[in-house]
Amino acid sequence: MSFTYDYYNPTTIHFGKGKIEAITKHIPKDNKVLIVYGGGSIKKNGVYDQVVKALESYEFFEFSGVEANPTYETMNKAVEVIKENNIDFVLAVGGGSVIDGCKYLIAASQYEGDAWDFLDGSAQVEKALPLGVVLTLAATGSESNTGAVLTKRETNEKRFFHSVLSFPKFAVLDPSVMASLSDKQLANGLVDAFVHTCEQYITKANTSLLHDGYAQTILKGLVTLANDWENRRELVWLENLMLLANQALNGFIGTGVTQDWATHFIGHELTAYYGIDHARTLAIVQPSLLRVLKEDKKDKILKMGTEVFNINEDEEAVIKAIENLYEKVGISTNLNDYEIDDKVIENVLSGLKIHGMTAIGENANITLETSEKILKMSM
Ligand code: NZQ
Ligand code: ZN
Repeated sequence: MSFTYDYYNPTTIHFGKGKIEAITKHIPKDNKVLIVYGGGSIKKNGVYDQVVKALESYEFFEFSGVEANPTYETMNKAVEVIKENNIDFVLAVGGGSVIDGCKYLIAASQYEGDAWDFLDGSAQVEKALPLGVVLTLAATGSESNTGAVLTKRETNEKRFFHSVLSFPKFAVLDPSVMASLSDKQLANGLVDAFVHTCEQYITKANTSLLHDGYAQTILKGLVTLANDWENRRELVWLENLMLLANQALNGFIGTGVTQDWATHFIGHELTAYYGIDHARTLAIVQPSLLRVLKEDKKDKILKMGTEVFNINEDEEAVIKAIENLYEKVGISTNLNDYEIDDKVIENVLSGLKIHGMTAIGENANITLETSEKILKMSM
């Protein structure tokens, strides 16, 4: 069988210290700009000042308060700001949550109906304002991909949509702005990027000599950073995290290969019900998922063992190495270590059922019963 793929990624990347001023290259001078940010970290670490300085000759407005795990309810308030002020360009300044919230915003502000339609799949985005990004947290890859994940607070639903119109026009990746991140967020970023790569790698064999090697390089890089955890405040460490997380989910390594994403789908339900950080849900679910599906995933788990961890043992040894990696950066893989209640399995399974996640994974064989087994094993 021949290897085929289609790839498109139009986001211009400006990578490196001091690059925030490059934003003006991409925003027409007569545009009214809406700067969107989160809870205020950008006001403490100098990012806000750099953005405002770069935009001094523009007319700009602000919308703040986008939560970690951005909500439909909050972003709908930003839609009003866009409409009231005839905004032409949206600038997201933050991590995955702010960026995802803005991907919704640029489309929702141009849509007549209830824009949750994009999240429940009943409508596709047909029109959107242009979006630019100043990234402050390396993790999701949202700065140069098409995905957005939003939560509806009213119903405890965390859902995603993809649109080619969500691609940011540009993204500034200045690793020095990550100096103010907590250890917890740095660890989250590392683990999220690791699992993104696994979701596109630990599936079926492929014939490309490039794709697996590329994914393995990203995984090895992240293992190196975890092993070098004591130097996480060095610029070179932060630079590498930003490079790796961006490449893990800018779409390329997933082209032409079989993808999984079941860990993410189960993890999203844990965040929706219990507010557990996204990356932590992945660390809880993934090792058990690999154990339950180790026959299906055997070849890739073993390949990962030799190529990434330098382990020539069985699947269990590789899964253990993955768990050790998460624990090394301070993230527990045991669901009982998080704030849950005795309804956790029932709730997650009910969310998966409502959202049609009853045959997930690269073989579409992770049924609700399999998800239940995975969750029980993670406790
Ligand atoms: O709100 P502020 O004050 O900015 O604080 C944030 C937030 O509390 C803080 N932060 C960000 N940059 C900082 C900083 N604090 C100090 N210094 C800085 N430089 O970090 C906290 C977490 O930020 P958030 O944006 O929520 O983190 P992350 O980038 O991990 O994004 C997580 C969201 O992205 C979604 C997740 O589900 C979750 O909702 N994902 C998006 C994906 C995509 N679009 O492709 C894929 C992922 O799998 C993921 O699902
Ligand atoms: Zn993720």
